[in-house]
Parts: sequence; structure tokens; C-alpha cells
Amino acid sequence: MAVPVIAIDGPSGSGKGTVARRLAEALGFHLLDSGALYRLTAISAQKKGVRLDDAATLAELARGLDVRFDSNDDGSERIRLSGEDVTTLVRTESTGAGASTVAAIPQVREALLERQRGFERPPGLVADGRDMGTHVFPCASLKIFLTASAEERARRRHKQLKDKGIDVSLAALSRDIEDRDRRDTERSVAPLRPAKDARILDSSGKSIAAVTQTALDWVAEL
Ligand code: DC
Repeated sequence: MAVPVIAIDGPSGSGKGTVARRLAEALGFHLLDSGALYRLTAISAQKKGVRLDDAATLAELARGLDVRFDSNDDGSERIRLSGEDVTTLVRTESTGAGASTVAAIPQVREALLERQRGFERPPGLVADGRDMGTHVFPCASLKIFLTASAEERARRRHKQLKDKGIDVSLAALSRDIEDRDRRDTERSVAPLRPAKDARILDSSGKSIAAVTQTALDWVAEL
């Protein structure tokens, strides 16, 4: 029997990561955080002193990533790269910027393709990213494109950072988000766009719980 795949795509700050995690928990499915693989490739490059324009070496790094995704007892994530705990480093702004650069390289995307497809295991998979429904899992049972206005995404990120004691201006964050959206939507390989058969879900002004419930209702309709 085919393994059900729920693809969740959308721009950064749309709430994808949290909704994907909650959905996977509620359904008892595996979770693929594909953005983490691009982030880990950027970290690996930085650690090994590989330049972000050296496509062939970056693809080799991506193919050879030695990564373990675990959960702590409280359900929060723990990510290890070659045995080293990189959970915090994975989520920094500078790692995100590096990830966006390596994600625009076709050889890197190709190198990560089979690894991503390897997450498709019974009883099912929730796959979170930018091209899950369009490219990696074109036959997904349900494709959700989760969006939110750029202002709302900047506000959410601002709050997250403030909660961590990091002080960044909202205007600077808005600019960063718009720049990253532009890079992700305008690149020639696997640009960020909804699959033709995706259902669009706008999370602006909605709680995570409400968005997760809508996604669960759509799953129940399958
Ligand atoms: O979702 P995220 O912020 O962890 O993603 C980091 C970067 O990787 C972001 O710039 C988009 C890119 N990415 C991608 O191109 N394709 C994916 N499937 C996931 C992320």
C-alpha cells in the first residue's frame, strides 16, 4: 500500500514548521523538515571552510551529511551533525541565510532529493518545505500551501527573537523576509510556488491550533 504523504509548503514565517510538527504528532506520522537539510549543508560548508559558490563540493557535503534528528523528552527537537549537537546553530538567522544560498544550487537540490524521499515510511509522512508538493513528493495525498502576509511573518519572527532576548528591528526583519522570499520564488530550480493541486491556507490572524485543525479536517476528507 502507498504510504500517505502530507506535503506542507510555504514561505518562512508562515507557521509551517510548527503546524507540520503538530500534524505529524496528531497523526502518528514521521516528519521531514527539509529546510533543516539545507541549513545543515550550510553549517557543514562553514565548518569545513567550503565557499558557498563551490557547487560541486557543496553537493558532495549535502550527499554525505551525517545527521540525526531526535526529540527531547518535552517533544522539542535535537539535531546532531556528525555527532555534534547543532540544534541551536541550525535555527540562527545566519544559518538561514546560508541555507537560502545553497538551496539555490541545482546540484545541492539534486543531492538531497533521494535523502528526502527516504523519509517516506509507514505509517505516513508529513513533509515540510518549499517544493514538497511540486517536486519531491509530486504524488502526495494532500498538498497544503501555507502562507501569511509578509508583515505578519515579520511580526512573528520579531516576537520569537524578542522572547529569546535578541533585539532586532522589525523593519530590518521585514526586509530580510522579503529578500529571502524573492530569492526562494525567483530561483530557476524548484522555486517556491504552490503545486497546481495544492490547497491554500492563509494563517494570517489565525492561531497555530486553528491552522492545525483546518489541516486535520482536510486530512480527514481524504
Ligand atoms: O524552512 P527553512 O527556513 O528552514 O528553510 C531554509 C532555507 O532553505 C530557505 O531559504 C528555503 C530553503 N528551502 C528550500 O529551498 N527547499 C526546501 N524544501 C526547504 C527549504
